[in-house]
Order: sequence, then C-alpha cells, then structure tokens
Amino acid sequence: MPGIRSPSDYSNEPPRHPSLKINSKEPFNAEPHRSGLISSYVTPVDLFYKRNHGPIPVVDDIERYRLSVMGLINIQRELSMKDIWDLPKHTVTATLQCAGNRRTAMSKTRKVRGVGWDISAIGNAVWAGAKLADVLELVGIPKLSNSTPSGGKHVEFVSIDRCKEENGGPYKASIPLIQATNPEADVLLAYEMNGEPLNRDHGYPLRVVVPGVIGARSVKWLDSMSVIAEECQGFFMQKDYKMFPPSVNWENINWSTRRPQMDFPVQSAICSLEDSNVLKDRKVTVKGYAVSGGGRGIERVDISIDGGKTWVEASRYQKPGVPYVADGPYSEKWAWVFFEAKVEVSHSAEIVAKAVDIAANVQPENVESIWNLRGILNTSWHRVDVRVGHSSM
Ligand code: MTE
Repeated sequence: MPGIRSPSDYSNEPPRHPSLKINSKEPFNAEPHRSGLISSYVTPVDLFYKRNHGPIPVVDDIERYRLSVMGLINIQRELSMKDIWDLPKHTVTATLQCAGNRRTAMSKTRKVRGVGWDISAIGNAVWAGAKLADVLELVGIPKLSNSTPSGGKHVEFVSIDRCKEENGGPYKASIPLIQATNPEADVLLAYEMNGEPLNRDHGYPLRVVVPGVIGARSVKWLDSMSVIAEECQGFFMQKDYKMFPPSVNWENINWSTRRPQMDFPVQSAICSLEDSNVLKDRKVTVKGYAVSGGGRGIERVDISIDGGKTWVEASRYQKPGVPYVADGPYSEKWAWVFFEAKVEVSHSAEIVAKAVDIAANVQPENVESIWNLRGILNTSWHRVDVRVGHSSM
C-alpha cells in the first residue's frame, strides 16, 4: 500500500531513549533499568520496553491506512482510522508484560533460548482507542458472541511488520471470539498511549491491547483482522509462547501438545535493588511491582530478608498515598501495583519478594520447578543479595 511500508532492513528505525538497556539491536529489543521502571506508576513511552521481531513499519500516510476486517462469510470491510476514531473512545490502564520477562535469571539454572530480559520487560500505560467489541459490532458481530453463524470462534490479528520466524510473513496472533466481543474484557484497538498517538515502536497507527494476557497477543501495526474457526496457526501461537514442563527439551518437544499461553500468572519483582548490592545503611527500602493476569488483583506482597524463612507484608498502591484494595472501586484491575517495605538487614541478606493474587495464586519458590526450554513466565520468587559494607561483593 503506498504510504505504508514494511522495511526489509533496519535503516528506518525510530529514535530511542539512550538509557534503555539493549538486549538485541536488530530486531530492537530493550528494557529500562530497574530503578527507572518504578520511577513512575504510568511508564513513560520512551522508557517502556520494546519487543520487536522485525524492522519497524513506516506508515507516513495515515489517510491511506485501512484495517481490513474479514470473516468466514459475509464480512469484508475496510475501516479507515476515521471509522475507528468515530467509535466511542475508551481508556484502559493496563500492564503489558512480555512472556520472556526475567528470562535471563531462568537461564542461570539451565540455558534457555530467547532474548535475555532482566525484570523490566513490563510496563504500565494508559491506552486509548476503540473497544474491539465495538469494532466487531460495526461489522455485524454482536457483543458476547461465542461463535458466528458460519462457525467463527477466534479473531486473528495480522500485522504490517515482517519477521523471519514467519519466513518473511507478518506477525500474527489470535484471541477467542468471546473475549474479543466481551466489552468487560477491555480489549482495545488502541491508537493512543499515555495521551499521545502511538509511536512507531509501539504500533503506530493502530495496535491491539489485550489486558491481562502475555504481550505477544497484543499485535502492533494492525493490518487486518479475521474471524476464523480455529485459533491462529502462526509461529508465535503454535511454535512459541507455550509453557512446557522442565522435562521437555529441543529433542523431544512436540509443540502441538500445549496450548498457546494467554493469561500471565502472578508476578512480582524488586526494582529498587540490583542482583547484588553493597549498602551503606542497614535500613533498606524494598520497592517493586506486582501484577497478575486475567484482571486478578494483587491480594498481598510478602517480603523476606532471610531467603524466605520469615516474611513481612509490604504496602501496596496504585496511586501514591492511596492504599490499594484489590477489586476495590478505585483500583485499576488490569494494572500493576507498586509495593514498598522498609526492612533492616544485618551484615548480609537475601531479600525476597513474592506476590499473591486474589485467587490465592502464589509465585513459585524456585525457578527450577517452572524451568522451560523457551524461558517463558519466570515468575519464581524474586531474590536479591545485599551486603552492608564498603567492599565489593
Ligand atoms: N506485534 C507485532 N506486529 N510484532 C511484534 O514483534 N511483539 C509482541 C507484541 N506485538 C510484536 C507484536 C510481543 S512478544 C510483545 S511482548 C509486545 O508486542 C511488546 O509490545 P511493546 O513493544 O509495545 O512493548
């Protein structure tokens, strides 16, 4: 399409913030430093992690942009950005987390394949756009549809970008039709992030945001959308982003035995400390984020200074100074909570954080029990070492 390009190389990449920690240059994958991540409850766009599988598309003529919507029978529409802007605008504060968040730590147990991420492949943004349920209604699919008369059960999103995993084809993913047509699921076709039009890295001009679900399903640079009978057969649904048991290796893997990962499990991480720290003071403020998938709020965050033998409860908040109540009237159900605990350590300590969600799901104690060859969903207790003194560790 004129005015809309998928570059085949990396000579058209957008400018990026110099403080980002680059985990891979081409495609560009980067995350903010730990302390930067918790400097703001809503993550500034330039510090928000960037997870790409190919060169960033160039859309320089928005007038020519069209979203094709296709179905099994009878649905075939081209929507312009004006069609999308004309629908009611919804704002959803939602945390996006890459399934590979904390992969580097999983590799320390046994090597896994994939881009190495510390604990910041996660960010919280105020997304605005049309509800997917409204867009689907516009093309004739009613709210809360389990299936269409012609047997459609999933909505597939196909992007403008091209990636090598798809043999030079577009990035794609799908979600169930019932989630797509449920206004309460808050799935957006977003055109704004933190009050500004999406920037190129995050999906300009239009992206999907699926709250509470691993970031891989929030397809950026949306090109077309189809109602299909089976879930999307693309690489990132069928040959990646699936959770295998620790016994599965690259010799015995059978991808078809597992379903594509959707909701992410309960997660938390300490951001105010690095893996190893030499502190001047015994008094330590432990701060970080906690979040769970599927809109499950955070019931508790426990902090230990003795590697998990004893625990104290951290305070939680979404708005500074306002204690957080999971599922409370003022809580953002799709968004992370920040936690904070003041502790006093002796000479050295292993500080640990673990979160519990409202369904009483708890982070697993050890990474070994959830180790998987692709290194996804490392939600094990987050541990950091501290030592009080002046010498290096
Ligand atoms: N959409 C397209 N088109 N191409 C991609 O490479 N990466 C996915 C998802 N959507 C991706 C995509 C993954 S794995 C994640 S975690 C999120 O986008 C990251 O979104 P962000 O870069 O805006 O943080």
